[in-house]
Amino acid sequence: MRSLTYLSLLLVVPQTLALKAHDFKTCSQSGFCRRGRALSARAREAGEKWISPYTVDPSSIAIASHQATFTAGVKSSLYPEIKFGLELRVHDDGVVRVRMDELGGLRKRYDEAASWALISEPVISKDIKWTAGKKDIRAVYGAKKENEVVVTFAPLRVALLRGGKEQVVLNGQGLLHMEHFRTKTPEVTHTEEPEPKEGEEIVEDEAQVVVKSENPRAWFEGDKEDDWWEETFSSWTDTKPKGPESLSLDINFPNHGTIYGIPQHATRLALPTTAGESPFFSDPYRLYNADVFEYLASSSMSIYGSIPVLHAHSAESTVGIFDAVASETWIDVAHASEKSTETHWISESGILDVFLMPGPTPNDIFRQYARLTGTTVLPAQWSLGYHQCRWNYVSSDDVRAVQKRFDEEDIPVDVFWLDIEYSEEHKYFIWDKKNFPDPVDMVNDVAALGRKMVVIVDPHLKRTSDYPVYKKASELGYLVKNKNNDEYEGWCWSGSSAWMDFFNPGVWDWWISLFKTQKLENGWSWTESTEAVHIWNDMNEPSVFNGPEITMPKDNIHHGGWEHRDVHNVNGMLYSNLTSQAVARRSDPPKRPFVLTRAFYAGSQRFGAMWTGDNLGTWEHMAVGVKIVLSLNIGGFSYAGSDVGGFFGNPEPEMLVRWYQVGAFAPFFRAHAHIDAKRREPFLLDQPYKGIVRDILRLRYSLLPVWYTAFRETSVTGFPVLRPHYVVFPKDQAGFDIDDQYYIGASGLLVKPITEKGATETKVYLAEDQVYYDYFNHHAYRGAAKGKEITVPAALHQIPLFIRGGSIIPTRERPRRATTSMKKDPFTLRVALDKTGTARGELYLDDGETYGHEKGQFVWRELVAEKPVKKARSVRIASKDLGLRRPGEAVEGVALTAFDPGNAFAKSIGDVRVEKVVVLGLNAKPTGVRVEGGGDLVWEYTPGVAAGEKKEGTASVLSIKDPKVLVTKDWAIVIEW
Ligand code: NOJ
Repeated sequence: MRSLTYLSLLLVVPQTLALKAHDFKTCSQSGFCRRGRALSARAREAGEKWISPYTVDPSSIAIASHQATFTAGVKSSLYPEIKFGLELRVHDDGVVRVRMDELGGLRKRYDEAASWALISEPVISKDIKWTAGKKDIRAVYGAKKENEVVVTFAPLRVALLRGGKEQVVLNGQGLLHMEHFRTKTPEVTHTEEPEPKEGEEIVEDEAQVVVKSENPRAWFEGDKEDDWWEETFSSWTDTKPKGPESLSLDINFPNHGTIYGIPQHATRLALPTTAGESPFFSDPYRLYNADVFEYLASSSMSIYGSIPVLHAHSAESTVGIFDAVASETWIDVAHASEKSTETHWISESGILDVFLMPGPTPNDIFRQYARLTGTTVLPAQWSLGYHQCRWNYVSSDDVRAVQKRFDEEDIPVDVFWLDIEYSEEHKYFIWDKKNFPDPVDMVNDVAALGRKMVVIVDPHLKRTSDYPVYKKASELGYLVKNKNNDEYEGWCWSGSSAWMDFFNPGVWDWWISLFKTQKLENGWSWTESTEAVHIWNDMNEPSVFNGPEITMPKDNIHHGGWEHRDVHNVNGMLYSNLTSQAVARRSDPPKRPFVLTRAFYAGSQRFGAMWTGDNLGTWEHMAVGVKIVLSLNIGGFSYAGSDVGGFFGNPEPEMLVRWYQVGAFAPFFRAHAHIDAKRREPFLLDQPYKGIVRDILRLRYSLLPVWYTAFRETSVTGFPVLRPHYVVFPKDQAGFDIDDQYYIGASGLLVKPITEKGATETKVYLAEDQVYYDYFNHHAYRGAAKGKEITVPAALHQIPLFIRGGSIIPTRERPRRATTSMKKDPFTLRVALDKTGTARGELYLDDGETYGHEKGQFVWRELVAEKPVKKARSVRIASKDLGLRRPGEAVEGVALTAFDPGNAFAKSIGDVRVEKVVVLGLNAKPTGVRVEGGGDLVWEYTPGVAAGEKKEGTASVLSIKDPKVLVTKDWAIVIEW
């Protein structure tokens, strides 16, 4: 399966793209990446003789009184005078944090990346005991003592083991290199022999003698100061005032042959190789938030966001790592064998701060990672509806007219968006009054029909004194500085611009105050706005049109004196963090904000949604968008989607329809188009396309209870909203490379969006011996224990969507114009029996917009279909309160503090009922269907294939009409035959 996928990707490498590749560096054009790769080439060449110069000084080991942490001095035999400090901590969930920094160096390395990403200081384990020996220090831990961390002293090597097998190894290949700070002195070159200081001794074991005899510094570091002190790219010069400070580290997975994660890259979910024999990509995966115009549909290049999180997977176990570094990072991936993976991480600056997540299942890693950086936000419910955007709706009347057309055509939509042209000269917040003379009335007209607006606010501020936001920010010194410590000036949409420096805590309250809709006594606020306006944060990589690689110079200065190079990848997250706080705090008590961000980092999932930026209207981009969104879900950021229709181009109707199908099954669902693209709102389509798109949108709305329940689950457990195959079936090797079909939360819905022109059928892989029902026509398909591919119809109007046997799917099926009108709508339950005749599902509801759910204001039901032991010829379908729901599964510190059984929200929907129950796969026609403790119900039965049969064909369908059971109450329906 792997080679097939490789082949199909090779075939789709686009020929017609206008990517300006020369705007972005390759590894060989980046000094520190070149040095890192050269180091690894030298190691390869030296083979066995390559020995890492870094060693732990055993006499310096200090174990903390709580026992779970130890610190130790580390030295490099090449620079004995330089001191490094190593620290290992074991957290109470088994995560191991490894930190290393230069001690007492010429300068300080940036060590704050983790503090922006983490939700709190992780809790240290109470059950660990480090034991130091002559050669290593180790700790055994876990409920069954199954985990072990071993830190070997000479050379330094860190290994995490499980059941005696190595899961992750740091510096096993000896590529660790923390370039220490140095002074630029032409006389002293790094190729000189190290001089031991007085009283200091170089430990000369056999290996180091080999190294030394060959001129160790040159042997290890290379024989020239390659871009140490200055670096040019195209017309830009990076002055590098701090000199070399990069960090290289090999992180290997000797027993895991497949890796996933490190979004954002336009590639397969199971990451192809970049090193070793015949690599798939020639450059390492790059993490450097960048505005890449017309990005390639298959590439290891950076795009807009960076999450340095990776899962390494095998049929036996999964292990994860999170590398908390904020500077530009390149990651080489190679497979030493089918069963092992080698990765090499090269970062430009910062300390070593790596979290090893022991798993051993994908879900364990999601939880371990969520405990570190938090979970995906539980969004406002309306924001899971359909969003209509384009660059641009050109006037307030245009917005009104578009809304009217949606309503005339009965097409549901929740949000209308305004891109940059709403603003006067791209001074965000300030309306262009020529075209938007009545912004508040316009928003109110949209809100009157239960909808919202999202308006763009970019981080570049037009440098003009008639822009109050810029003027004040400049006066207060809130803007990013250039290398001379003057206000940095660059070009973006607004022409000459300056950038807010969100690393300055002084900025935070001020930024929040700008979004207030009331007039403030001292200061400007956005009075021409309302609480129905939410925010789009674009260009926050940051994008700078005349900057190196379309971003800020690395020698720019942020608050605290840090260079932009140190903080680049977290910069965009600070922006969406502050904006989401600002939007929430417009009201008192706060309401859930919606903020869409283009740039992101680990932790951004707490602040809103992301989208995959400027994709092209091509089938390749449509297909890779699905994979990118899956990879974001692996990286903890479930609230993700791509521009429906493709940002650039004019998709033909077939493509647009398929794109709506992709979007309807993405967590974030928005259509968007470039300013030069033709209008393509769904109501403009001819038939049959218009009708098909309307049905797709109605399907999305009817499934909102499934989406919202999945988001609730992710916000509590960290398990992703979209679950690719390896997450659901971690032991099924045949599914490891599958990234074009996936499950939605724990609902049991399996979807394979079609991303191929002219498709009339497709293949879907079923990994288990279970019945799967076609969602629409109830055809029962059978999987197999060893996995099986089925062929299913996929004409343009058809979406391959299946209910896994054993699931109960709650829907709301009344066509509505927006989510607000659905709040009291009744529910339909699809009970899809599994081969043993049982099923389970969940339904989560709350008011959808406040934080009342954090105080227990919600309804969380468990739905079951069970076979009563005493009455073999019956099925009992019941609804039970889940209350706080298996609190053991919640990620501590992020959610679920309370549940109020008689809460006001539950009361407010007290009369909401179930209007229909559809049971798929019953064995025989019932003799009676009744509510337990109540009367007989009206029902209809169509015979067909039973869940327990081996046959395929249309399943039997029992349709129970209006059982009048209430959604907030316990009830049971008994079916007998
Ligand atoms: C770039 C964004 O990616 C795109 O979605 C937006 O329309 C333009 N900027 C204009 O704001």
